[in-house]
Amino acid sequence: MTRILLDCDPGHDDAIALLLALASPEVELLGVTTVAGNQTLEKTTANAIRVLEFVGRDKIPVAAGADRPLVREQVVASNVHGETGLDGPDLPPPQAPPVEQHAVDFLAAKIREHDGAVTLVPTGPLTNVALLLALHPDARPERIVLMGGAIAEGNVTPAAEFNIWCDPEAAARVFGSGIDVTMIGLDVTHKALFTPAHAARLEGRVGGMVTELLRFYGEFHRKVYDFDGSPIHDAVALAHVVRPDLVETKHLNAEIDVESELCRGRTVVDVWRRSGREPNSHVGVEIDADGFLDLLVERLNALG
Ligand code: BDR
Ligand code: CA
Repeated sequence: MTRILLDCDPGHDDAIALLLALASPEVELLGVTTVAGNQTLEKTTANAIRVLEFVGRDKIPVAAGADRPLVREQVVASNVHGETGLDGPDLPPPQAPPVEQHAVDFLAAKIREHDGAVTLVPTGPLTNVALLLALHPDARPERIVLMGGAIAEGNVTPAAEFNIWCDPEAAARVFGSGIDVTMIGLDVTHKALFTPAHAARLEGRVGGMVTELLRFYGEFHRKVYDFDGSPIHDAVALAHVVRPDLVETKHLNAEIDVESELCRGRTVVDVWRRSGREPNSHVGVEIDADGFLDLLVERLNALG
């Protein structure tokens, strides 16, 4: 079983990634940390707790982290995720606060407790992870599987994906850390759309809640991309930990553009190995979309 820590900014797809983690016996979720991204830190933290409480898993600790990027202005994605960050279902407000420890200290403590034998799954801007590396250099997870970036496209600008664009300086530190990093980017997440046909297969109370989430989230993807469904970006990163065969990766060099305005936050992936720079990440290039979507439906239904 793989021990994981989920660092997230829920967010519709973060919430679904969290549910997938809870439903997957291949992983043990040690805790959830939150970061500002899709919405303010206060809202992403509340949302993580609301989801855990909805499925009765409120014993899993949630620690709140960075409320803004390292150096950039904070920008939220209410156009995608709504004013609450989790618009759609009528989830009650959180009944309990997060733990008192800051997310960065919480991550460090959990990683130390398990001698580094932990996979960190960041599905928001990488601010907490960069701070972890800077403040606790001895607390290094053995692996980071992150959702972010793209080889050849962008979703917040033509050049950049949201999580990396939000805090490119943090992302540069993570990709340059020397830790075993896997990048699950738009190249794969946009190839696996959760359609109304998949939603029709969802069952039970959790299935109903996810259907409501997807109704809201799907509107954005229909309007902006003309997609007949939604990429569940963050759940792909989680699924890759649960079932590594679902995503094919290549070991490549990826650098983050922190200099230009036009390409701010672009993940410059050296697909043809032109730069001579050493590979520093396993970059997702292909996905077994049906395998991923079937897994998601099956595991969400198992939550009842
Ligand atoms: C990423 O940005 C957020 O909107 C999603 O939660 C996901 O982590 C996709 O670009
Ligand atoms: Ca996210």
